[in-house]
This record gives sequence, C-alpha cells and structure tokens, in this order.
Amino acid sequence: MTINIRQEVSADHRAVFELVQRAFENSEHTDHQEQYLVEKLRQSAAFIPELSLVAEIDHQLVGYILLTRIDIVDDDNQAHQSLALAPIAVLPEFQDQGIGGKLIVTAHQIAKELGFGSVILLGHAAYYPKFGYQAASKYAINMPFDVPDENCMAIELHPGSLTDVKGMVVYPKEFGIA
Ligand SMILES: CC(C)(COP(=O)(O)OP(=O)(O)OC[C@H]1O[C@@H](n2cnc3c(N)ncnc32)[C@H](O)[C@@H]1OP(=O)(O)O)[C@@H](O)C(=O)NCCC(=O)NCCS
Repeated sequence: MTINIRQEVSADHRAVFELVQRAFENSEHTDHQEQYLVEKLRQSAAFIPELSLVAEIDHQLVGYILLTRIDIVDDDNQAHQSLALAPIAVLPEFQDQGIGGKLIVTAHQIAKELGFGSVILLGHAAYYPKFGYQAASKYAINMPFDVPDENCMAIELHPGSLTDVKGMVVYPKEFGIA
C-alpha cells in the first residue's frame, strides 16, 4: 500500500469535505462541524495552501490535514507567528495504518521549510505526543478556552523555537472562538 501525501487542489474540495465529515462522525468531544471549518479556513487570511494536505491511496483520498496561521500574543501585546493543526482526519476504514502520522510528519516538514517554528493544537492526549507534542503549558502557552491541560499541545519545529514565545493563542475568527 503506497500512501501519497500531496497538496490539496480545488478538485479535491468535495472529497475532503466528505472525508472530514465521515472521519469525525463517531468522534466524541466535537461539534461535527470540522468539514465546514475547513471550508471557512480555505477562504481566510490564515490559510496556507502548502499546508493543506491530502493522503491518497490508489488515487482515493483517505486522509486530510490542515495547518493555519495563528498568533501567540504575549503580555507586551507582541504577536509571535505560529500554526494551529486543525483538523486532521483519516477515513475510518483506513485508520491505524500510519496515515495520520504520515500527514503530521509531512506537514511539520513543509511548515519548517516555510520558516515556521512551532505548531499548537487541541487534541487527543495519547496521540500527538508520538510526534513530539508536549503540553502547551510547559511552554507557558495558553489557549483561549477552558479545556484540560493535557489536550492543549505544542511542538517546536526547531529546538528552542518556543523558548521566548509565551502567551495566549489567538485563533483566526473562522474558528468561532470569542
Ligand atoms: C486521529 C486520527 C487522525 C489518527 O489517524 P490514523 O491514521 O488512524 O493514526 P496513525 O495510524 O498514524 O496512528 C495510529 C495510532 O494512534 C492511536 N490513535 C488513533 N486515534 C487515537 C485517539 N483518538 N486517541 C489516542 N490514540 C489514538 C492508535 O491507537 C494507534 O496507536 P499505536 O501506534 O500505538 O497502535 C484518526 O483516527 C481520525 O481521523 N480520527 C477521527 C477524527 C479525529 O478525531 N481527528 C483528530 C481530532 S484531535
């Protein structure tokens, strides 16, 4: 089974909508709106086409990941650029075969090449540490909502890239976070 990861193109939009919807269908802790979030983020200033990636097997789309621009704003009101990973989705019948992991690792590599130093996310505490994520609180990065500490995670794409970055994550308005 060869998994091909590539940048999403506009002809993929419908299939991405359906795969994100199906992947989250049976998930807890979600409003099942992730497919609409992707549509909104594509139209936003936070969107980076190179970080909207699909996974395909034999030309069938089986996975998707999106990293978009966010700011981490410190006490002096200085904004530090970072990325939010949301969403990541793999079709149920293709899960547990390393596709999610491959999407994450590839997205990190491209983000690094584009000059980004970090990624933050809200997600399953048992999954993302496999790829180097640690509690965001360890870096003194706070999320603008009340969720368990262990689900708020961050990764340095370069060692030390979050050393001088502390503060509150400011999401693009498309996330609907006040
Ligand atoms: C989360 C998701 C993207 C992972 O993709 P995947 O291709 O199945 O993951 P991989 O094959 O790379 O990794 C599988 C490993 O992650 C673990 N894993 C998968 N989903 C997990 C979860 N929700 N919580 C904890 N661990 C999880 C598996 O048990 C497996 O562990 P192992 O390597 O020890 O056997 C996929 O399960 C999915 O689309 N889920 C529904 C949507 C979702 O929840 N998205 C993430 C929102 S935070």
